Amino acid sequence: MDQTVLNGVAEFSSDRHPEPFVMIIFGAAGDLSHRKLFPALYNLVVDGWLPKDVAVVGIARQKNDSQSFRESITRSVKEFSRRPVDDDIWSKFQANVHYVEGNFSDPEVYVRLKSTLDAIATQLPAAKNRLFYLATPPSFYPIIADQLGQVGLSHSEDPSNWVRIVVEKPFGHDLESAEMLNRDLHQVFEEEQIFRIDHYLGKETVQNILVFRFANGIFEPLWNRRYIDHVQITVAESLGIEGRGTYYDNAGAIRDMIQNHMMQLLCLIAMEPPVANEADSVRDEKVKVLRAIHPLSTREVAENTVRAQYDAGTVGGKPVVGYLDEPDVPSDSRTETYVAMRLLIDNWRWAGVPFFLRTGKHLSKRVTEIVIQFKRVPHPFFRQSGSELEPNQLILKIQPDEGISLRFGAKVPGAQMRVRTVDMSFLYDSSFADAAPEAYERLLLDAMFGDSTLFTRKDEVETAWALVSSILQAWDRGRGSIPTYAAGSWGPEEANQMIARDGFEWRK
Ligand code: BG6
Repeated sequence: MDQTVLNGVAEFSSDRHPEPFVMIIFGAAGDLSHRKLFPALYNLVVDGWLPKDVAVVGIARQKNDSQSFRESITRSVKEFSRRPVDDDIWSKFQANVHYVEGNFSDPEVYVRLKSTLDAIATQLPAAKNRLFYLATPPSFYPIIADQLGQVGLSHSEDPSNWVRIVVEKPFGHDLESAEMLNRDLHQVFEEEQIFRIDHYLGKETVQNILVFRFANGIFEPLWNRRYIDHVQITVAESLGIEGRGTYYDNAGAIRDMIQNHMMQLLCLIAMEPPVANEADSVRDEKVKVLRAIHPLSTREVAENTVRAQYDAGTVGGKPVVGYLDEPDVPSDSRTETYVAMRLLIDNWRWAGVPFFLRTGKHLSKRVTEIVIQFKRVPHPFFRQSGSELEPNQLILKIQPDEGISLRFGAKVPGAQMRVRTVDMSFLYDSSFADAAPEAYERLLLDAMFGDSTLFTRKDEVETAWALVSSILQAWDRGRGSIPTYAAGSWGPEEANQMIARDGFEWRK
């Protein structure tokens, strides 16, 4: 593999291209392909990243042929691309898009896929590498992997050509199923070939956590239990479950958000500096954090986690129904749409520093941010009438107002010695002219280059599942009622009480 890729982000430049390849998308008729994958491919073409010889094969159950499939993705790319579509560029690219129809468990599909790949090989002989993308329901992952193995598509006869497989979330439903899925994939593919996607790692602001921590000298000396009081990680969504009742009711907020996206954010905040910006060095450090999270006993789960469901309410001025009245949600569902938890990391850097995580659907606003709250000054001799000096906070704003702000006390002008908290802010929008690429652009490109730094490794997913599964089991043992919160609020009162026990409050 090219060392400049291993050396990371800073070395990326569109003078370099991935080697020519064919991308094969299972589930090509689905939402993800239409809204994210094809628009991302188009933007990579426009940015000059893709090599000349690239073909795409879409596979799905829907009756279709290549021509009408091309027409349908053209409509989607026009609707969802972050840039206006240049007809010339797109029509050259889409001429190499093909469609194979069929059921993923039918061996015949793989025979048809093979002959399509053979036909592509005659037109684009340089495109010898293969990137499989599983954008299907997860129950098909082992079936597809197995079939690919059986028809000999999982490895290339010529070792200089690569074969990789990108697997979407959810990766398992609990620890056991995640382990089983890993075993099934490993029957056919080597770990180096498997790219487990977590789209949060493709977000610019999430990658910037590493840059902020490890490309600057001033914060790292403070980044520990001596100076940091607690950390809050919030992923609040104003949207509800958006018609995904069947999936969501089986998942809930802890599986949908905590096991993957929020554990990744926690790891990036808490990890030690990696030896190099290289896939295994970075992932080794993340796994160490996950392993150091204090395991919660049943009693600790009751004290340190809060789950809740949204009730009817008003979001963005519009009335919305409660979770139990959503389509495809059973009226007696106990699935949580909100979860908050307090975690401790048992290591030298973080012993005793609580990490509070919260996420929920239909909350007051959409905001993803991380608050690092520093300890108060040891001897506050500026007496404030009526109020205490606020502690310093560093706020990493992941979305929607991407940036970083530092809150500190400043003297209010005037004859009195009054202190007020002010904000020193960096905003992406005003500091950088270029719009950030979509998460899927970055992640697809990394998979094409073979750089798995921003993809989760086997032990990483399993360790995150071990924690989440133990919480789920404790929840199952305590069959008490689930609190509710009004849609459009900031969540249940129980979450405020949980954080208040440590003397803190959630940032609004
Ligand atoms: C997905 C979840 O992984 O992430 C969704 O399945 C959630 O439920 C989404 O809405 C949030 O992603 P983003 O990028 O909008 O913060």
